[in-house]
Amino acid sequence: MVTLRIGFGEDAHRLAPGRPLVLGGVELPSPRGAVAHSDGDALLHALADALLSSFALGDIGDFFPPSDPAFSDLDSREIVRRALAEVRARGGELVNAALTVTLDAPKLGPHRAAITGRVAALLGLPEDRVGVGFKTSEGLAPDHVQARATVLVAAT
Ligand code: C5P
Ligand code: MG
Repeated sequence: MVTLRIGFGEDAHRLAPGRPLVLGGVELPSPRGAVAHSDGDALLHALADALLSSFALGDIGDFFPPSDPAFSDLDSREIVRRALAEVRARGGELVNAALTVTLDAPKLGPHRAAITGRVAALLGLPEDRVGVGFKTSEGLAPDHVQARATVLVAAT
């Protein structure tokens, strides 16, 4: 029998001048980027937490403790690959992913195809199974980038 499992994750980082803005593994043109020990890719961090939550595995801090210097400057794609491996090791197969980034500036719409393509390749999914949406905070959180992710996993 196939069991369906939902997963959800979210992440936020403060924005500061001179930092890279990386979302979904794509570095975007922006005067400000995420303040973080890693590359600060809030979208991939939310996605990794969504994958882990589908099997109630805690969150990425349990696998990559931020206090451990071995994980500073870690490429966030490695975090997602590990989370996906944990899901697959339990018989889980990803069905689709739905992602939202909240950011006031810059405009992300022109980069949707690049972000979708990169995330789909990372997950081993066709692009029509990776939905990527963007929202502003309407000025409520102008100094933050936030991301939310849901995944659907089929497990046998
Ligand atoms: O948040 P809001 O409803 O004002 O977003 C309006 C449009 O702007 C959405 O269609 C969204 O795709 C786009 N957007 C964007 N880049 C952002 C935030 C929103 O392209 N950083
Ligand atoms: Mg993060």
